[in-house]
Amino acid sequence: MCMKSLIICRMGFCDDVNAAAETIAAEENITIISHIDADGIAAEAILSQAIARAEIPVQSVFVRQLEPLTMNQVPADKSYKIFVDLGAGQQNLLEAHGFSENDILIVDHHVSQPCTRHYRQVNCLPYGHVKMSAAGVAYLIAKAMDTANTDLAKTAIIGNVGDMMARETCGLVGLVRDIIVEDGVKHRNVEVRRRDLNCYGTATRPVHLSLAYNDDPFIWGISNNPEGAKQFLRRLGIRQQAPDGRWLVWEEITVEDRRTIISALAEQLIAHGEPVERLLAETYHFPDEPVRTPLRNAQEYATVLNACGRWARPQVGGAILRGDRASAYREAEHMLKNHRAIIRDLLGYIIDKGVTELECVQYIHVGAKYPDTIVGIGAGMALSKLNSAKPILIMCTVPEDPNLTKISMRTTERVVSRGIDLQQAVSNASAEYGGGGGGHKIAAGAYIPKCAEQEFVIRVNKILKEQSGAAGPDHR
Ligand code: C5P
Repeated sequence: MCMKSLIICRMGFCDDVNAAAETIAAEENITIISHIDADGIAAEAILSQAIARAEIPVQSVFVRQLEPLTMNQVPADKSYKIFVDLGAGQQNLLEAHGFSENDILIVDHHVSQPCTRHYRQVNCLPYGHVKMSAAGVAYLIAKAMDTANTDLAKTAIIGNVGDMMARETCGLVGLVRDIIVEDGVKHRNVEVRRRDLNCYGTATRPVHLSLAYNDDPFIWGISNNPEGAKQFLRRLGIRQQAPDGRWLVWEEITVEDRRTIISALAEQLIAHGEPVERLLAETYHFPDEPVRTPLRNAQEYATVLNACGRWARPQVGGAILRGDRASAYREAEHMLKNHRAIIRDLLGYIIDKGVTELECVQYIHVGAKYPDTIVGIGAGMALSKLNSAKPILIMCTVPEDPNLTKISMRTTERVVSRGIDLQQAVSNASAEYGGGGGGHKIAAGAYIPKCAEQEFVIRVNKILKEQSGAAGPDHR
């Protein structure tokens, strides 16, 4: 196979991308090991399609995380292993498992763990591309393998948006914006709206519910207030229902009505002395998907993938990305409904039961009530309804191993900018108790021995206190 394109990007990362493309092209049989979240599912779909198109046999497995318990899911065969959206933070585990430098490739965007073995890795993070997910890295490799793979830019955008790469900056930025989004637009399966409402559910939720469920920015009288949102739209004279009574979604109302709503929301924010910057965002739409379905925009599509992955059916998400709109899509719709209901329930549970507050962290243990794959999502959503200046730590039991506890932590960009790094806190504290974890500054997770729960929380609290102290008074 020929290398049809070389990626033009910052040297170093670019070299790693091109070298990985060449390595992959030279392999005879490949196994991809990927993560079960939206980004992992998207990254796997990109790489496995690029590899299959290069006529190299490829198979994939998904794991909820790389840890001793899940290592037995990695096939013990001679195929070349590509670890995707995981692996960077678990290199010692890969070494302990006996992998040599020639056996594996890591395609990741998580913080790397120091390791005596120098595994081949394509990781955007050390090169300063902090707003790129694993699907972004996978896409650049796929494109370096063959420029015909630019049809997969759409999938990479879904992975990046699903991994919150657009959240802080109200749109994708850096290489993801300049290369991947542009490729998607050129391929005509991606449409960019530069100044759209920064709101979830624009393809599927009635407009008043989209507005009411949004709290970033929080709009007084509308956020968390569906009836208030409905009255607000009525006062503006917006037609909210179709002639048959069906509620219209944001996508369906006229451009003029959208402008009227955005201006009125801005006025509402200004009237309450709130900043308006986060009211608008760049959003990514898929004109090749059916209207009023969650596949019409990147945010909602990513939720579909998350629902599949978190409910142990990542292959269903992968099938949808490959175009299945029949049985896989029907199954995903069912999982999405269930996913939403359980997360709503979990959110209510966290708020009702309340968190325990230490000086630098708030925590809750949900026992076996909710799966370990979704507690982090619920904790992240609960944060905006709690004291968001303090990171949240959620614990739950692990069904496969009663001696283990799953930890998820979430915080906000504002807290991260003050020097807080959950990845460091969680991975250091879990290592001290014989567990293992990783992730990002803003969202991290770990598995720890059940018997260490209380000490672990106290240790995390202490590390967070040290981090905020080290940042100095200017950052507090
Ligand atoms: O599981 P959760 O959604 O809380 O994970 C948050 C982040 O932490 C993810 O990026 C995940 O890959 C990472 N993580 C990790 N090691 C773990 C658990 C989570 O690196 N044991």
